Amino acid sequence: MASFNLFLLPGDGIGPEIMVEVKSILSWFQARGVATFETEAGLVGGSAYDAHGKAISEEDMKLAQAADAVLFGAVGGPKWDSVPYDVRPEAGLLRLRKDLGLFANLRPAICYPALADASSLKREVVEGLDILIVRELTGGVYFGEPKEIVTLENGEKRAVDTQLYTTHEIERIARVAFDLARTRGKKVASAEKRNVMKSGVLWNQVVTKIGKEEYSDVALEHVLADNCAMQLVRWPKQYDVIVCDNLFGDILSDVAAMLTGSLGMLPSASLGAPDAATGKRKSLYEPVHGSAPDIAGKGIANPIAMIGSFAMALRYSLGLGEAADMLDKAIANVLASGVRTKDIAAAGQNAVGTKDMGAAIVKELEALAR
Ligand code: NAD
Ligand code: IPM
Ligand code: MN
Repeated sequence: MASFNLFLLPGDGIGPEIMVEVKSILSWFQARGVATFETEAGLVGGSAYDAHGKAISEEDMKLAQAADAVLFGAVGGPKWDSVPYDVRPEAGLLRLRKDLGLFANLRPAICYPALADASSLKREVVEGLDILIVRELTGGVYFGEPKEIVTLENGEKRAVDTQLYTTHEIERIARVAFDLARTRGKKVASAEKRNVMKSGVLWNQVVTKIGKEEYSDVALEHVLADNCAMQLVRWPKQYDVIVCDNLFGDILSDVAAMLTGSLGMLPSASLGAPDAATGKRKSLYEPVHGSAPDIAGKGIANPIAMIGSFAMALRYSLGLGEAADMLDKAIANVLASGVRTKDIAAAGQNAVGTKDMGAAIVKELEALAR
């Protein structure tokens, strides 16, 4: 039986609550003989700061580097609002992305048929939706230098963030988007703001060139990022794959989340470049949502984004596509049977907690395996 080494970073807020549910799912797959999962857990975010004054320790960085896949919960919360900027909880996540070279962030937004009425948009707008946002994750304004607040001679302060992209960074994320489009609807929409940003001009040129030279079988459309946000709530089904920079991808994927019913539904995969010798990619799997301080500790968070992220790990890092299909099907069936956490429940409908949703998915896996 294949054996995999998973590094778990539950993090803060609802992170640990949803990670527990993934643990029971991976135990189930292990008991079924699908694979052996060696798991180790570390600290990230506020919990790491509380333990050793850093958003992630060097030791945990090493374990993340060595793992077949990292499973990440969420970080952040009001408790750490005033810690120094460099060690704030989010810095742990950004360091993992940068140091592991996780430049490609896949954020699929699928509206399960049973949830078409849970979206804040009309049923016909979201029913059957299946789009994929491919977000560049290690460049742009998140990492560009300078990044600082300086005090001017007149005592005023000036804050600088730098949006920066190179040809190579745009080429490689474009290829990820085009390759994935080939396995789906064969359409890519590239979102940027070439009308006001030099990085948008270069982004547009590079994506156009890659599309023309290497992917003439994939339809390419360019859309200004603000218009893209509007189109996503007007008629999202016009899209198949959307490729965009780090910041636009962050915002557009939260918009896409609400098309599916809740931010608690959206999984993601962050992938590095394939290793030249082994072909293996470094990878981290995390829900799109954050630590949800408003509901943390109440046992009511939706674990589906986290569980769906584990399904992506099975598919993209562990070569267990059948197990991934089975887990996705179990989630769909549980939703179809009417089980709902509070965030996706209709007004007046009974909602279950995090644990009950996790248990319902394990039970459904059991039924599917019979
Ligand atoms: P958030 O995503 O944590 O929450 C936004 C809203 O969505 C809240 O009302 C929350 O209750 C709800 N929500 C989120 N996930 C849910 C789930 N699984 N089930 C049910 N409801 C859910 O965003 P925020 O409140 O803006 O940020 C809180 C903290 O999380 C901040 O410190 C932020 O930096 C951090 N954050 C971390 C990540 C991450 O770790 N990947 C992502 C986004 C935000
Ligand atoms: C996300 C989050 C992160 C981001 C934060 C927590 C650094 O919002 O993964 O979407 O901005 O990328
Ligand atoms: Mn975000």
